[in-house]
Amino acid sequence: MITGPDYPHEVEVIAVDGPGGSGKGTISQRLAEHLGWNLLDSGALYRLTALAVIKNNVDPKDESGLQSMATAMDIRFEVCGSHTRALLDGSDVSDRIRLEEVGVLASKIAAIAGVRAALVERQRRFRQPPGLVADGRDMGTVIFPDAKLKIFLTASAEIRAQRRYKQLKDKGESVNLTRLFREIKARDVRDQSRRIAPLRPAEDAVIIDSTNLNIEEVFNKVCGIV
Ligand code: DC
Repeated sequence: MITGPDYPHEVEVIAVDGPGGSGKGTISQRLAEHLGWNLLDSGALYRLTALAVIKNNVDPKDESGLQSMATAMDIRFEVCGSHTRALLDGSDVSDRIRLEEVGVLASKIAAIAGVRAALVERQRRFRQPPGLVADGRDMGTVIFPDAKLKIFLTASAEIRAQRRYKQLKDKGESVNLTRLFREIKARDVRDQSRRIAPLRPAEDAVIIDSTNLNIEEVFNKVCGIV
């Protein structure tokens, strides 16, 4: 149940969930811009938490230590034009949170109940007028179960690995497609099989498979539904 002044539940939410590489990040950002709504990149929140774990030398197995750290940490998002900066303790870590090892640690600590509990409030505070596009794994199932529209974007692991490969290559990073594919599969298993808030479509979600669609085609499909 979402109540209280911090959660104006009359503000509409569009939840966009799905596995990494499904295109949900790009689609959510474009949709938020198109509608003039706020954007929550909840994956970035988990990535910032992972970075805070590294910075503060917290043992990733120490559940209560992780929960207190995630409750107290100083993380912020700052919108600069079309770009959003992610800040940890006031420093811009927008690039660092995108590193593969940070994503892997984010996925591991995201399976811990105390960490997820600490981030619930922080995520719901993004629900502000005129509306919110919420991008993640459990936006439609746990964080905003009353979202007006729930989209679950998916694609085969092969195509997601190829997209990620191209992204990293374009950034000049040296990457191995087979390794990326293995990591994506491992992350899928971890995100789907965890006990709390596993990655799965909400019962009332519209499922879009982007395996054979380019980003423009997905965006047009989503806009049609919206
Ligand atoms: O979307 P992403 O790759 O930036 O997310 C990084 C990890 O964070 C992902 O592997 C699982 C976790 N995550 C989550 O558990 N719940 C969310 N709502 C968003 C991300």
